[in-house]
Formats: sequence, structure tokens, C-alpha cells
Amino acid sequence: MSVDPEIEDEYTRVVSVEDVPRGRGIAVDVNGIEIAVFNVEGEFHALSNRCPHQGAPLYKAGEEKINAEHTWTETRGGVNEGDLTVSCPWHLWELDIKSGEHEVSGKCIGTFDVEVTDGDVFVRV
Ligand code: FES
Repeated sequence: MSVDPEIEDEYTRVVSVEDVPRGRGIAVDVNGIEIAVFNVEGEFHALSNRCPHQGAPLYKAGEEKINAEHTWTETRGGVNEGDLTVSCPWHLWELDIKSGEHEVSGKCIGTFDVEVTDGDVFVRV
């Protein structure tokens, strides 16, 4: 099966579906733009990888946080599949995963169109 030519022209393949576990994100670079791609119940969403608060890498939401002594292993932030939000791992700002908006502050980050075809995730920048 071949990729739709329109998708190949306008979108950039960034990752295989199987490489992004459900409820998690990864960071990709498309033409120098840092993008976080999240898998929310099998649907993929792409937004700027930098939190609008202080620039934390959003893709790390939900990862284990380890301090200098390697003693603190709680997770920080994460994807809320019910609310379609991602919480930043640094100070837990909750961003709408579709719009990139932080409702409380009114700040917003960029989002990107995503297409999934033949087991690959494509992002339009
Ligand atoms: S840097 Fe994201 S909430 Fe502070």
C-alpha cells in the first residue's frame, strides 16, 4: 500500500505508530521546529514541544522524574485522555492537546495537523 501523494507532499513522516505508546509523547524535529507528538487512545496529536510557561519539554510529561540523588521517581505531568490535555512536567500547567491553549493564563502554543497512514505518523509544518 502506498502513501497518499498529497500527504507525502505536504506532510513529513516523523515516527511509526508503534514507537509512541498510548498516553505518552515523543519529541521530533521538523525543519528545526521542536514538536511533541502524543498518542491519545490511538489518536495522534502534535504541538510545540515547549511549554508556554518556562519552556519545559512537553514530551517528557508522564516520565519518571529523577532528582540528583536518584531517589525521587514519581511521574510528573502526563496525558489526560479523558480531558484531552497534557500537563507539563515542570509546573503542571494543563494544556489543551488539540488547541495548545492554557486556559488559566490564556497562553497558547502551536499545534500541527497530523495524518496517520500505513502505520506512520505524518505532521504538517
Ligand atoms: S514550564 Fe511548563 S508549567 Fe512551567
